[in-house]
Amino acid sequence: MSENWSLPSLKDAKQRRRTEVQFIRKEFELDETYRELGKHRRYIIHTYGCQANERDSETIAGLLEAMGFTSTQHDEKADIILLNTCTIRENAVNKVYGQIGNLKQLKQRNPELLIGICGCMTQEEVVVNKILETYHQVDLIFGTHNIHRLPELVHQTMFTKERTVEVFSKEGDIIENLPAHRFGNYKAWINIMYGCDKFCTYCIVPFTRGKERSRLMEDILSEVNEVLEDGYQEITLLGQNVNAYGKDLKMDDGFADLLEAVALSGIPRIRFTTSHPWDFSEKMFNVIAKYDNIMPFIHLPLQSGNNDILKLMGRRYTIEEYTEIFMKLKSLIPNCSFSTDIIVGFPNESDEQFNDTLKAMDLFQFDNAYTFIFSAREGTPAAKMEDSISMETKKERLRILNDKARHYAYQNNLAYQDKVVKVLVDGLSKKDKSVYSGYTETQKLVNFTGDNIVEGEIIEVKITEPKSYFLLGKAL
Ligand code: SAH
Ligand code: SF4
Ligand code: F3S
Repeated sequence: MSENWSLPSLKDAKQRRRTEVQFIRKEFELDETYRELGKHRRYIIHTYGCQANERDSETIAGLLEAMGFTSTQHDEKADIILLNTCTIRENAVNKVYGQIGNLKQLKQRNPELLIGICGCMTQEEVVVNKILETYHQVDLIFGTHNIHRLPELVHQTMFTKERTVEVFSKEGDIIENLPAHRFGNYKAWINIMYGCDKFCTYCIVPFTRGKERSRLMEDILSEVNEVLEDGYQEITLLGQNVNAYGKDLKMDDGFADLLEAVALSGIPRIRFTTSHPWDFSEKMFNVIAKYDNIMPFIHLPLQSGNNDILKLMGRRYTIEEYTEIFMKLKSLIPNCSFSTDIIVGFPNESDEQFNDTLKAMDLFQFDNAYTFIFSAREGTPAAKMEDSISMETKKERLRILNDKARHYAYQNNLAYQDKVVKVLVDGLSKKDKSVYSGYTETQKLVNFTGDNIVEGEIIEVKITEPKSYFLLGKAL
């Protein structure tokens, strides 16, 4: 172990300190030492996990480009490969280990290649120890709290030719004005807060992302105006619990106020994710319903339809409370679509308890459901629970749940037959270059044909054939 390393500590990550968060708002300026580091060199970033990671990768790309690196789409052509990782479930982690393994050959052929691992996995002690022991092809490990230190870390790794490990378990300050290379041309991610204080008993995020910290409203609004001036049509406000925005800043109704201010900016489409059912307020309902540029689509994670399981999960709402919020949104927002997250096979979940989740599916009839088998995460309370349910049973439950989810997704889509919807054109479909694709206001994917289609425009499309998870249409 090098004495210069800072390694993650689960104990530190679990603590919530009272220390005030500082806002570092000075203009970004790259130290001269790092400005030429990337000259004639190329980078590639592979991003796993949620939108928080997508947005972090944009900052990482922005920093690398400030250092003179240019991007490439091919690992073989890269001088630096970064894996921005996710540890939400075991299978996410295994994917990354597989990818690190694959990179070994490239490294053997090109010893100058710099391989770096960052993101939520590196915030875990067990992961960093395993990489250090097993994967000698990895040169650089950094965490979610020290992305701004990337230029120095890359410099250090390149010049010492030794491995660099720097992971802070204590979340630091909020650093504004870092450069970003946004990957979307019409849709922008905007962080409104970092971290999570909910501590759902199954979830690792509070340990990998630190305590809940909101950005200042004026900084968020200036980013919104920036993307608006750059021609962006849609923004998504990001946070693990956007509804809790501003609580740490002692704002009374922070998210409602922020959302209203963002709506008044005039950006054509506003989305937000994720809304934890716990923190909804009356004012939030009203703002969401009031503005046409706040899209009629809500991701409202349910996790389970059974109150005892919800309690064990630490979700802090009952199925009755969830129902009230859901029905209220449904009645206030015409044609609103809903998606959700559901976990099956939480430790000792009985058949009856699982049936309550199926009943909830029948009640809410979600447009989309992201479904997962419970995965034990090191350091979380649920990982310590003994579990009497076999993996076979869990897989069978997932299959039954997915069948139901597909059924309702299709039923909801059937209502779109022959309707004319507004679609923001993303471009040619990635899977089928003979059609264009884009999303409706209700976040339905539409594949469509038409003449003189312009990317980034919001156009009218008539739906000709609904499928389970997308719609076919014709531009008008
Ligand atoms: N902050 C968001 C969720 C972020 S994680 C919220 O609370 O709604 C995205 C989803 O992954 C969660 O909603 C949950 O359904 C799932 N998930 C999280 N931890 C998990 C685990 N240990 N096993 C299985 N699924 C998990
Ligand atoms: Fe995880 Fe719960 Fe926080 Fe969502 S609210 S990130 S599920 S701890
Ligand atoms: Fe994964 Fe981290 Fe997001 S664990 S889901 S990338 S916050």
